[in-house]
Amino acid sequence: MQIDILTIFPKMFESPFQESILKKAQEKGLLKINLIDIRSFSRDKHKKVDDYPFGGGVGMVMKPEPIFEAWEFVCASNPDLPTKTILLTPQGRTFSQAKAQELSKLKRLILICGHYEGIDERVREQLVDEEISIGDYVLTGGELPAMVLVDAVARLLPGVLGSEESALDDSFSDGLLEYPQYTRPRVYRGLEVPEVLLSGDHEKIRLWRRKQSLLRTRQKRADLLKKARLSEEDKKLLMEN
Ligand code: ADE
Repeated sequence: MQIDILTIFPKMFESPFQESILKKAQEKGLLKINLIDIRSFSRDKHKKVDDYPFGGGVGMVMKPEPIFEAWEFVCASNPDLPTKTILLTPQGRTFSQAKAQELSKLKRLILICGHYEGIDERVREQLVDEEISIGDYVLTGGELPAMVLVDAVARLLPGVLGSEESALDDSFSDGLLEYPQYTRPRVYRGLEVPEVLLSGDHEKIRLWRRKQSLLRTRQKRADLLKKARLSEEDKKLLMEN
């Protein structure tokens, strides 16, 4: 997958994309991330990327020309790839695991990081296919949301996670939260690992884990449990408590 990120702060991305799983995904050639500095497309002698809003009001608005030209530049670099352009903005639909899964099937994404009081509406109308928010709070810009989106999508690409880090067991992937996990030592500060996990009885362990997932979801995120598709076995496990 290729992801082109249009931003006025490309340096913000350097460290997060050069660590851990995202770094390995790029090294393995599973993910190609291009950072495009919108400012370098400004034709203004001061390299301005924002201006006062027509009609007055507080704050600045991102100018259309550098964004249009940056977008045309990245599209021209690989014109045959089917492309989806996403604007990160608090006005977008809230990001979710289901959206991450949907986006992970695409070959190429262009992300536009918004700033200031907003972005010239013509960018939205002409270039943007979809607007995404990462939650109902306002950040200083779309860079951190873009990183969140890239991280969530990248780990779903085939081959990015090893079998030991599989995405299948994730919280949310089946609409439930994950069960509790333990590792060595077996007793720590007098706190013991649940006996069933040491039993070697795989069916018993599976049932215990499923039940813990269900109970946790009911306790912490009752809204998710309402939406989850529960089997007869799930319903029985929930009735036991
Ligand atoms: N830009 C500022 N706040 C944002 C948010 N919550 N999601 C996406 N983009 C944003």
